Amino acid sequence: MSSDTDGKFGAYGGQYVPEALMPAIEELRDAYERYVLENEDGFMDEFRRRLADFGGRPTPLQYAEQLSDRYDTDVYLKREDLLHGGAHKLNNALGQVLLAKYMGKDRIIAETGAGQHGTATAMAAAHLDMPCEIFMGSTDINRQRPNVFRMRLNGAAVNPVTTGRGTLKEAISETMRDWATNVEDTHYVIGSIVGPDPFPRMVRDFQSVIGQEAREQIREETGALPDSVVACAGGGSNTMGAFDAFREDEAVDLIAVEAGGSSLDVDEETGVAPNSATLSTGEEGVLHGARTKLLQDSDGQIMESHSVSAGLDYAGVGPELAHLVDSGRVRAVNVDDEVALEAFHRLSQREGIIPALESAHAFGYLQEHPDAVGDVTVINLSGRGDKDLETVIEETEQRDLDVDVDMSVFAEAER
Ligand SMILES: Cc1ncc(COP(=O)(O)O)c(C=O)c1O
Repeated sequence: MSSDTDGKFGAYGGQYVPEALMPAIEELRDAYERYVLENEDGFMDEFRRRLADFGGRPTPLQYAEQLSDRYDTDVYLKREDLLHGGAHKLNNALGQVLLAKYMGKDRIIAETGAGQHGTATAMAAAHLDMPCEIFMGSTDINRQRPNVFRMRLNGAAVNPVTTGRGTLKEAISETMRDWATNVEDTHYVIGSIVGPDPFPRMVRDFQSVIGQEAREQIREETGALPDSVVACAGGGSNTMGAFDAFREDEAVDLIAVEAGGSSLDVDEETGVAPNSATLSTGEEGVLHGARTKLLQDSDGQIMESHSVSAGLDYAGVGPELAHLVDSGRVRAVNVDDEVALEAFHRLSQREGIIPALESAHAFGYLQEHPDAVGDVTVINLSGRGDKDLETVIEETEQRDLDVDVDMSVFAEAER
């Protein structure tokens, strides 16, 4: 576990928050250092036990036979889709809800984009008997309906956020506002390695179990480290979770795959960047309490982002990941909506695994650049795609893709 920073990652990170939030941030930093870094009261032991019993860790590292054959490289899948809840998000949500309990808080709030973090937080809160409210953009509520059902079934309130485009950026802003007025009794479970310190460090540490397990598993399987580790990047929590254990292994190429959306161009007039490729195209600025790379116009206004996958649709990125890209340790690449959709179908048809649209971006990179991942690659399969089925069918029908999803069976059944 890393304990080496003060919340700054080169030029990025820090704590850019209103005065009213400073006491809560300081209290959280103290709790993070004592319970997470120093294992006070056996916090980390309880966390690991619950991750195993409730979460189902360790997740497997699976050799993907068809993909390996097709791309002539050994492809291993880190199966975070098999974690309870269907995505890596539970690693962090369980850690933070448990931490809130140790801190004596009695209310949990969280933002969600794809709904996976909201679902994971609702599950963790029910598991640990804490009341929970989730803020979710109205656009995301409509495109991720199954996760809204899941949150409600786990007893969480879901508060629609109707400002802006109704996606993750607005949901985070609204949750921060709630936190600022209820700091005494409430803990804000942020869903990625974003926000003011200590969130980026703490979320990374809760997620780093992914890479720790994968590093052990690949060495057991092959006797060596992989040539590359590939993960999709929205805010970057599955990315840093997969990369952290490999950061000192200089020979291992760490590849962060962002959402190229429909185009890398930006429209200054409408304030829209039809992509979420913050690491590749963003500029330095401050958002949600941290200095990082952002999609912004020439006046510094945050642009509206876009991705076919709700969980990558964010104009910012974690400050640590931005720093690792600047310093050359992590390579930032991107694939567009169509490539991600094709990769989604390919993995479903060839490996029998329906991936989250977010994770499909990592496979899209393999599909487009099989020569750029070396002879042995570990791809983080951050989540499963059940939540994306409606979006995928709709988006696939609207495009002329190399793959076919014929759903005429429904019409035939009605005859
Ligand atoms: C399955 C899955 N993967 C990836 C992400 C992107 O988040 P992060 O970049 O923090 O891993 C999300 C976000 O909701 C997700 O649900």
